[in-house]
Amino acid sequence: MTSGGDLNRWVQDALSDISKTANLEELKIVRIAHAGDKSPVALASRSLGGLPNDERANMGKLIGTARAQISDSLEKQRVILEAERDARLLREEVVDVTLPSARGHQGGLHPISILKNEISDYFIAQGYGVAEGPELEAEWLNFDALNMPEDHPARSMQDTFFVEPLAARLVLRTHTSPVQIRTMLENDPPIYVICPGRTFRADELDATHTPVFHQVEGLVVDRGITMAHLKGTLDLFAREMFGSEALTRLRPSFFPFTEPSAEVDVFFNGRWIEWGGCGMVNPRVLVACGVDVNEFSGFAFGMGLERTLMVRHGISDMHDIVEGDIRFSRAFGVGI
Ligand code: DAH
Repeated sequence: MTSGGDLNRWVQDALSDISKTANLEELKIVRIAHAGDKSPVALASRSLGGLPNDERANMGKLIGTARAQISDSLEKQRVILEAERDARLLREEVVDVTLPSARGHQGGLHPISILKNEISDYFIAQGYGVAEGPELEAEWLNFDALNMPEDHPARSMQDTFFVEPLAARLVLRTHTSPVQIRTMLENDPPIYVICPGRTFRADELDATHTPVFHQVEGLVVDRGITMAHLKGTLDLFAREMFGSEALTRLRPSFFPFTEPSAEVDVFFNGRWIEWGGCGMVNPRVLVACGVDVNEFSGFAFGMGLERTLMVRHGISDMHDIVEGDIRFSRAFGVGI
């Protein structure tokens, strides 16, 4: 049988437990213990029915008062603890913008792009223009206009990516030389341009080949241009790329679009290394582009950017250039 003393004690216990709660989770446990369905006051309420009528009203009032005291106290503590929690969250979630942070990756240019820019800057400083052409090129510009007839071996399926529908006669350009043709068709001499860009050949990726690579083409058409100008231009270009000790050597060779033609070797780190091709622009090519061969002559050269980078930096595996691992780029001082 519940007495007034019991109620008093339950209320005191409840108030004491409530006052000791430090957060809302603790308050929830205390609420269940002192005001929940199985709390002493709830059980006492439920047993009121068993009391004689006169006692029931009186005891009912006392229990009601006790429950109200407990729930008032719970409510006050809830308000206090919620305010504390909100203040704590504000404090903890504050963002200190002055704290040092881990640097995010910002991206950077690939070493091939850096080299391309370096070469462009070098030639621009000498008055050259930079010409670009499409990577998907007319077969006629990639081959025919360069004096590479239908049966030329370089046109074979093994080397060239032909693009469907074949009747459109488009290829992924196999070299940057078609940009020479585009430049001469669109501009009258004197012409001083370089044409850096992406080129494609049906090679497997291995240590020295990649189906997608880059070349830079040079083209000069002016009055009185001779092979001496070509040699001087290549010597200076080689020094720019490989340092002031670099030398070039020309070896007789054959390209359909130059006559005479030569391979350019560069002397670097104590040995001769094949660098690219060059020659005097074949008069047949000049004529096809509407250049008056009685007045003008020209030279051209072309080399691979991957090869240039590999030689200059002692890179032995093409995979390092094409795979895009940022550890490789970082070694070139690329901030990523
Ligand atoms: N287009 C040639 C190639 O891809 C390279 C080349 C050789 C370009 C001689 C030239 C040149 O401009 O004169 O193999």
